Amino acid sequence: MASETFDLPPYFNIDPDKAMEELGAATDSAGFARIAEACARGRADLAGRGLNQEGRKTLRMFSTWEITRYLIPVAAAHFRRVLRQNPALPQGRSASDGGAKWFTLDEVLRLRAHFAAEGSQAKEYRPYRPEGQPAKIVAVANFKGGVGKTSTCAHLAMSAALDGYRVLVVDLDSQGSMTSIFGGRVEDEWSTVFPLLARHYASHLQRDNRARSDRGEDPLPLDDTLSEALKIGAQDLIQKTHWPNIDLIGAQLNLYWAEFQIPVWRMQSRGWKLWDALTDRLEADGLLDEYDIIFLDTPPALGYLTINGLAAADILLVPLGASFLEFDSTGRFFDMLHSTFSSIEEVENMAARALGREGLHFEWDAVRAVVTRYDSSQQAELAALMQVYLGSVLSPHRQDFTALIGQAGEQVNGIYEADYRDFNRETYVRGRQAFDATYAAFKRLLVGVWRRDEMAQDDRTG
Ligand SMILES: Nc1ncnc2c1ncn2[C@@H]1O[C@H](COP(=O)(O)OP(=O)(O)OP(=O)(O)O)[C@@H](O)[C@H]1O
Ligand SMILES: [Mg+2]
Repeated sequence: MASETFDLPPYFNIDPDKAMEELGAATDSAGFARIAEACARGRADLAGRGLNQEGRKTLRMFSTWEITRYLIPVAAAHFRRVLRQNPALPQGRSASDGGAKWFTLDEVLRLRAHFAAEGSQAKEYRPYRPEGQPAKIVAVANFKGGVGKTSTCAHLAMSAALDGYRVLVVDLDSQGSMTSIFGGRVEDEWSTVFPLLARHYASHLQRDNRARSDRGEDPLPLDDTLSEALKIGAQDLIQKTHWPNIDLIGAQLNLYWAEFQIPVWRMQSRGWKLWDALTDRLEADGLLDEYDIIFLDTPPALGYLTINGLAAADILLVPLGASFLEFDSTGRFFDMLHSTFSSIEEVENMAARALGREGLHFEWDAVRAVVTRYDSSQQAELAALMQVYLGSVLSPHRQDFTALIGQAGEQVNGIYEADYRDFNRETYVRGRQAFDATYAAFKRLLVGVWRRDEMAQDDRTG
């Protein structure tokens, strides 16, 4: 009788001599260059085979079913009637005679404008934005990696665009995931937010130097970077995307340089309010009027770029999974936010008190943690417990785990870019529900916050 044999797990009996033989030479810093070079060659090969992400992205078309189900709240029959009565409106294209009609998003936006102008006033054809109120800046942040920041941010941007808002997406993550989702092309740091931050510092330095010369001191020099940055405005950095109403300020690896440069500038001139840089530049360059919502995707770190993004934000969303580890580290993230921003306030307010000026007080219109990748069969208990402790800070809406995201392939990023005909209709509807609900929960915040500002404005003008 053969004795029972077990395969030992692979980590037993590793022969040290064999292991050494396989090892290869030690790596030095030039070794990284060789690895990078191998990657670059591989990348070129993949691109040559058409496996890259490049080549202009195009957005899919939208059918009458989808438009009347999700985008313009009218019955399909009425929609068709209005199109027949108005031959000047986009009529859509169909693959076959009498087949479903398909429209580009640009055409959908024109149709929506028509319904808003001509249709019933009782219906919400255009999403709410109070007159005279600036755009809202929304940051999606958590120093824990892989919690769903970029997915949440990209889906919110797309659903807001489908809803009719004018959206700007700013990628603050040098990994550039958001940039590739929106097909952005970024040569170097000069096409990222970097020049905006540099310009903010350069303007500060110019003012500082005037004060210095008044005191009879030597001015600090403006180097080439700073002089160059003074010529650059946000409009120079904005790229169009394959979405007609989503624009992008992209990122790529060089943006990481800002993490080293910002503290050097701050050391040079202590009075520079680095946390205001992004806010001030977005405002000064008119972007708060040009767009309705500005989404900031941040890196999984609490560095200077994230601090700038957080300080600029009106609404802060903190995605996290319903797991112990993510709950735990999100708690520490909030702790870090507290110590970072309160220590900035403390130092500023000491100086302000000495000068008899008004102090600094950071404030966010709304802060919400959002459960992502939620699996109700496994995580209901943990999520309920998180809800008990976090109360209203945790959005009651949980973004379900959906296979549609991973599945959607390289050219399409997520639910809103996917053609529903490629999926089982049930699967599609459920996947879409998950992100529509995330958007609805976000839009409630946005609308509430805008309304509060509008009321405060009315009170002031009286
Ligand atoms: N609702 C969801 N259902 C299924 N998968 C999801 C969902 N949300 C995010 N994911 C997946 O989780 C992974 C991490 O998501 P994402 O890249 O958005 O996280 P991140 O926080 O931006 O990561 P990083 O910290 O690296 O920037 C991705 O593979 C994404 O496809
Ligand atoms: Mg990300």
